[in-house]
Amino acid sequence: MDKKLTMDKLVNLCKNRGFVFQGSEIYGGFANTWDFGPVGVELKNNIKRAWWKKFVQEDVNTYGVDAAILMNPKVWEASGHAQSFSDPQMDCKSCKYRFRADNLIEEHSKGETSAEKMTTKEMEDYIVEHKIKCPHCGNFSWTPIRQFRLMFETSRGTVEGEKDVVYLRPETCQGEYVNFLNVQRTMRAKVPFAIAQIGKSFRNEITPGNFLFRTVEFEQMELQMFCHEKDSMDFYNTYKERAIKFVESLGLKEDNLRFHDHDKLAHYAKAACDIQYNFPIGWQELNGIHHRGTWDLSRHSDFSGKTMDYLDPFTNERFTPNVIEYSIGADRLMLAIMCEAYEEEVLDNGETRVVMHFLPAIAPYKVAILPLQKNLSDKAKEVYAKLSKKFMCDYDEAGSIGKRYRRQDEIGTPFCVTIDFDTLEDDTVTIRDRDSMKQIRLKIDDLSDYIQKAIEF
Ligand code: GAP
Repeated sequence: MDKKLTMDKLVNLCKNRGFVFQGSEIYGGFANTWDFGPVGVELKNNIKRAWWKKFVQEDVNTYGVDAAILMNPKVWEASGHAQSFSDPQMDCKSCKYRFRADNLIEEHSKGETSAEKMTTKEMEDYIVEHKIKCPHCGNFSWTPIRQFRLMFETSRGTVEGEKDVVYLRPETCQGEYVNFLNVQRTMRAKVPFAIAQIGKSFRNEITPGNFLFRTVEFEQMELQMFCHEKDSMDFYNTYKERAIKFVESLGLKEDNLRFHDHDKLAHYAKAACDIQYNFPIGWQELNGIHHRGTWDLSRHSDFSGKTMDYLDPFTNERFTPNVIEYSIGADRLMLAIMCEAYEEEVLDNGETRVVMHFLPAIAPYKVAILPLQKNLSDKAKEVYAKLSKKFMCDYDEAGSIGKRYRRQDEIGTPFCVTIDFDTLEDDTVTIRDRDSMKQIRLKIDDLSDYIQKAIEF
């Protein structure tokens, strides 16, 4: 990651280059909501596709689902969210802004102190001892800690007074647990097998912020591996390895990644860890891997009255499977990928270019078609029509070629194809590599294979 990168710089680049806009911007915005623009939606979709490819498509034992966001409210009683999904909240008495006590501690210590094992009193004492000031107004005037409920409520029903409360799901994994039997039966799946899904989750976070890092509406990519207890620690370790390899394969550098094993575990959990990334705001959680024992299936079995046991056809043993969960936020991963990709490169001529070194497989556009002059646009559009059948292509004929290259560098397009007057003669083009800026001449007919080879994942 470029040392000069700040979150403000990234937010500006995202806004100016069509990655991410402030939500409801023309109305003055709507705090901590973000809209993905034409470039950002491509990047995020490519990240989600890469995850699905590695964890579902290439794994014969993993099945995908897409469950409803609104679930029977009993689901949230069984999961424990209805009773205890809350965060320790503190209000600044001066400016009335609200914060999470554990985040204040972790952000103050740049991720070096974890608040997860602290009691309410210990967190309050830490904040007093370190005189942690309000990040908004700079004063030191806190209320005591109170618990703040994180699930968004809405209601269902048309008759006033007879509406039922329903919740926007705060995590996607419950849709995987409740479909355990459906998937097992319809796919004739044998334990061990996994269920994966990608979808929106919603949390009424006390302290959303830091751009895409913590928002109230976000996408999760979650996978639950159902297995026998005797195999569960092996699967836990396997998913730790697979999870870190996956983010490394998308370009996150080893030096900016670390495991953080949880000291404090839920009573049912056998192990839990995060992978943390060194964001410009310090080391923060990127994803989680959790050994959840039989808790989830047992609870859903108790609350629904349907047994979630599995009968092993080989051993005749009947048991409730253990669950190993792997969960990662698509938006948070996109933020990490953008931080890692960003570079302000000083060129030989003394100029600086901003370049996003995305792995070609996830770059928003794979190739930009640039006619050297406007009167070459017919030929350029022919090339665009050919390549856009296979790849996401950009087309730009406005401004100097140098400025057009810079724009493509800033959105991380791995290849720029320039159409010039020789193209009309011999059907060859210049193809420029984003990272090295080297240019070679290729036949139009060879472009597709050349690009395809570079974007394999
Ligand atoms: N089902 C387990 C679960 O939801 P979590 O640690 O609360 O676990 C998993 O969330 C991942 O989802 C996190 O590691 C993070 O990547 C992402 N995530 C959680 N809350 C988020 C938020 N408010 N904004 C963006 N991403 C979030």
